Parts: sequence; C-alpha cells; structure tokens
Amino acid sequence: MQITSFKQYEEDYKKSVENPEQFWGEVAQNFQWRKPWFKVLSWNFEEPNIKWFEGAKLNITENCLDRHLATNGDTPAIIWESNNPEEESVTYTYKMLHERVCRFANVLKRNGAKKGDRICIYIPMVPELAIAVLACARIGAVHSVIFGGFSAKSIADRINDSQCKLVITADGAYRGNKQIPLKDVIDDALIGCPTIDKCIVLTHVRTPVSMLKGRDVWWEDEVKHVNDICEAEEMDAEDMLFILYTSGSTGKPKGVVHTCGGYMVYAGYTFSNVFNYKPGEVYFCTADIGWITGHSYIVYGPLSQGATSVLFEGIPTYPNPSRFWDIVEKHKVNTLYTAPTAIRSLMGFGEEPLKGKDLSSIRVLGSVGEPINEEAWHWFDEKIGGGKAPIVDTWWQTETGGIMISPIATVTPTKPSFATLPLPGIQPVLVDENGNEIKGNGVNGNLCIKFPWPGMLRTTYGDHERCKQTYFATYENMYFTGDGCLRDEDGYYRITGRVDDVLNVSGHRIGTAEVENAINMHAGVVESAVVGYPHDVKGQGIYAFVINPEMHGEAELTKKDILQTVTRVIGAIAKPDKILFVSGLPKTRSGKIMRRILRKIAEGDTANLGDTSTLLDPSVVEEIIEAAKNLK
Ligand code: PRX
Repeated sequence: MQITSFKQYEEDYKKSVENPEQFWGEVAQNFQWRKPWFKVLSWNFEEPNIKWFEGAKLNITENCLDRHLATNGDTPAIIWESNNPEEESVTYTYKMLHERVCRFANVLKRNGAKKGDRICIYIPMVPELAIAVLACARIGAVHSVIFGGFSAKSIADRINDSQCKLVITADGAYRGNKQIPLKDVIDDALIGCPTIDKCIVLTHVRTPVSMLKGRDVWWEDEVKHVNDICEAEEMDAEDMLFILYTSGSTGKPKGVVHTCGGYMVYAGYTFSNVFNYKPGEVYFCTADIGWITGHSYIVYGPLSQGATSVLFEGIPTYPNPSRFWDIVEKHKVNTLYTAPTAIRSLMGFGEEPLKGKDLSSIRVLGSVGEPINEEAWHWFDEKIGGGKAPIVDTWWQTETGGIMISPIATVTPTKPSFATLPLPGIQPVLVDENGNEIKGNGVNGNLCIKFPWPGMLRTTYGDHERCKQTYFATYENMYFTGDGCLRDEDGYYRITGRVDDVLNVSGHRIGTAEVENAINMHAGVVESAVVGYPHDVKGQGIYAFVINPEMHGEAELTKKDILQTVTRVIGAIAKPDKILFVSGLPKTRSGKIMRRILRKIAEGDTANLGDTSTLLDPSVVEEIIEAAKNLK
C-alpha cells in the first residue's frame, strides 16, 4: 500500500476520488479484522452522520500488537529515552509491549473498568502512557488523555464532560530541570469529580503522595495481582476509541470523538505513506501523547505498521540544546517528526549544539502543528537533513485524526512552507465568505473538505449539535477546518493560519475565549480581550488587554495575579506573553469588542487600523496605542 512514485500518487489520488469506497476498501485489507464490513461508507454532512467499514469487527490492539508477534515479536516497538540523559534508555519489543498491555488491561478490569467506560489518563511521557492507552483500547474502554500541562480545573472539566469512571496518573513528571506533582494536581481535580471511582497511580519520580483509601491504588501493586492473558474485546468499527479535548472559538473545549475502524486505517495508511517508513527503521516523533500527534503518530500509526518508535520524556533544551541531536545519534534515528516551534528555538542556539553530532542516519524529516516559516524550513533542511532528507510539512488537526495535506516523502516535490498536495482520499476546497467554491490556482480562501475520510471525527462528546454547528454548518455539505489557505499556481497548498478565534501557540491550540474567561475569573478584572501576535519562537504569542479597575481608583491588579489565575484555570500553556492594562476596550455601539483593531495593535501595525468610526468611543484606541508602545 506504499506509494513509491509521483505517478502512482496521481493514479491513487484519482482512484480515491472517483471510487472512494473501492479505494479505502482495498487499503483496509491491509489490517486485521475479526469480521469484514458490509458497506465501506455511508454518510451525510447535514446531521452529520458518517460511518466507515459498517458492520466490521476488530480490536485496534490486535493490529498494533498481536499481529506482529509471530514475525516481529522481537522487533523494538518503543525505545524510551528518559528526561535524564544519564539514565539508560529502555526498549520494549512487540512481545514485551503486548505482555505489558494485556497485564495492565487486566488491572483495569480488576478495578471495575469495562467496554464503553471513559478513562482519563494523565501520565508523563513514559512507556506506561502508551501501555495505558493501549490497555484501554484492549478492553474497549474509551481513553481521554490529558496533556500534563493542564490545571486541576481543566482536568475536572474534561473528566466531568465525559463522566470518566477511572483515572490513571503518576506521582509526578520531570520536565527538564522541573518536577511536576501530577498526583497533587489530580487530587485537586478529583474533589469536583463525582463519577471517578478509582485512581491508579504509577510510581515515577518517587515523591511522596497522598493515597485516598478505597479510591487510590498503585500501578506496581495492581500488576502483581493479575496475569498477562487478556483477550481483546471485539469492537464495532464505529465504536468509540477515544476522546481528545481541543480548543475552539468558544470558551469550552470540546471532546473530539474518534472511532475504532476508520481511525486505525487512516492513521496506519498515512503513517506508512507520508514518512515512507521502511521496516527496521527508527522513527522519532517529538510530540507528547497528550496531543493528537502523539495519539496518531507515536502510538497507533507506527505500531499498526510494526514500526520502531522513540518515546522521549524530556524537552529539546535539557540538559542542553544538543539533546535531540544526541538522541538521533544514539538511536540512529531515520525519521524525525517535530514542530516548527522546536526548530525555531533550536535554531536560536546557532550551530554549536550540532558540532560533532552524527546525523547521517536521517532520511526523512517532518513538521507539524503550525505553519513553518521559510527560514526554519531551510535550517531544518540544511543543518539537520544535510540537504538530502525530504521535509514533509504535514497539515492536519485533532478532528481529522491523521495527516491530510502533505508531501509523501521521496515522492512529492517539496516547496518551503507549503504542505503541498492532498493525500489520496482527501478532497480539499477553498471557499469564499459566502461559501462559494473558489476554483483554479493562485487563489486564497477558507479551507474546507468536501468528502469524508476514514479518520475524521464523528461527533463531539455529549453534544452532537455542537459538532454540527462548529464544523458542518458554516458551509453547506462541507467540513470547515477553521484555517485559511492559499493554493498557488502549481496547485500547491499553503496553510495561512486560523481564521477563527483560535490561537496556535508553540503548536498548541488555545481559544482566545478560554483565556479571556480565565482572566475574567480574577477578582479585580472587569473585562479582557485576548488576541494573538507574531512571536519569533512560538509562532504566535498571547496578548491580553485587561481592563484595570485601578485606573478607576479601585483595588490594585498585577500581572502576576493574572498569570497565576490563568495557570490555575487552564494551565501554564495558556499564560499570556504580554498583558496590557487599559481603561476600556474598543467596542461597537452594540457592545461588541472590535478584535480586528486589537490584533493590529498587538502586531504593532497601528498605521492601518481601518475604519474606527463605528466605535462607541474612538479615543480609547489612542490610549491603547500609547500604552502598547511602552509595553515590554
Ligand atoms: O491551524 C492549523 C495548525 O494547527 C491546527 C490544528 O491544531 P491541532 O488540532 O492541535 O492539531 C495539531 C497537530 C495536527 C490547524 O487547524 N496546523 C497544523 N499543522 C499545520 C498547521 N498549520 C500550518 N501548517 C501545518 N503543517
């Protein structure tokens, strides 16, 4: 099923559009099913109602583990690299991983979990995170992984939204030279989570934690009470596999739902093709499993293809900015898949960290999560790939389940800062404000997809109407991505960024409304408005305009207060980079904040503010411009 020439790409693409059911039916033959489907696809985008591989039965872990045992049981599945470079790396072969997953699946059962139950996972980047994820899938429980940077309140909101029954966590996490008390955060979260019966705690940093009688149990004790035989639960192709929360333009994150069959086929197919993965190669994706990139391209995609995947606990700059390159050299990494923000940050250290590092094993490079600027693209190409490794700039989203628009390594001619062409099965369209398709090349528009693909979201947990309104109601009969896009003269696609109120900070998706809600929770705050602005390393930074009552002679408000509140309410990842205290915000007569103006001010482009005559009080703009000039 691997595409090896551009001609084959064109043929496969054509086939996938002319006869999608036949195309995906054939791709799906490369996976292991307990029972075949009677229909490849039924769909409508109005409700929406999308079903792939209807009637088929499977378990994704049989595809990711069992089916490799006979021929590749001793192949490394996961190579774990600790935060601490002095610590030995740990290799789990497919056999070992299978054994651990089955054992932990039995632990879950022993603690009352069963098919369909939602399970929250809040574990650092250690092999047990992948084991926990796969153990849920093994018994048919739905995992909801939460990134380690979220606060107790964010965790509680997510647990309650999907009524999770069980939490799996660790005592703590290492992040560079910091230690994060995960269990303490979970303890705070669980005060407000009535649906949680059990909490399984992994020992990792060995910090003292409090264990609540009857609720909390140790991972290490539990695994002693069970054996390693666990038959995989038979799942319907359309049964839920996982929920992953992501930010939108409203204040409340939504639980994106992916299902077993279509997601598996899409993650596996795209992994194998986009990275041109060859058996025996070492693949290193630097994302965290707490995000979709980790779900699809650390866990499910690579493992479904029998690949060897490096799982790294730490950060690129600890103990020094050579860390990625040391890992590449040590494990002879063939494919490195990372984010533009990491590339830009490492680029900032110059060439010193690269000196003496052997990067000759690298064959393919990948980028994900945000637009990659040309400078970073060239640095990645020349300094890391030695000008020989194709860069796959992969555009996709939590909702799409897998890569959508991207070069196919060694096949598609690349172009700096372009995601290039749609993968087979993906039918992108650009539309104008009124929903009319913009045909031809050399055009800009809002990016939509007009035909279903197996990895697409099916709903947003507990609120199907929200799924419909967010993705399928803006433009009739199309999935709306929220991204702006250019199609150049060659028909190549370049993502220009979000067209809604969603920010992309270091490749992390954050809703402006979410940050505003958090800021507004602080006692002294009257109102706030948050916008993005260009940031050299993060891609986008968070700029908060906060009405300060002190300016009206009331209680004093400090930036520290605001930062603390945002960290408490959402997590450190959402902390504003800049805070400007103002006495008022630019509003229309109907009371709507004119964000367009604030965006311009945040960008420092005050010469082109556009029409301000509809503002209730235009003088407020002058005041904000003046104050912004003095902000560091
Ligand atoms: O704006 C696009 C940007 O990231 C958004 C999706 O974020 P998330 O759901 O967190 O998933 C990130 C990892 C897949 C998109 O709407 N984005 C993602 N990849 C690219 C990108 N922007 C430009 N180029 C990309 N390659």
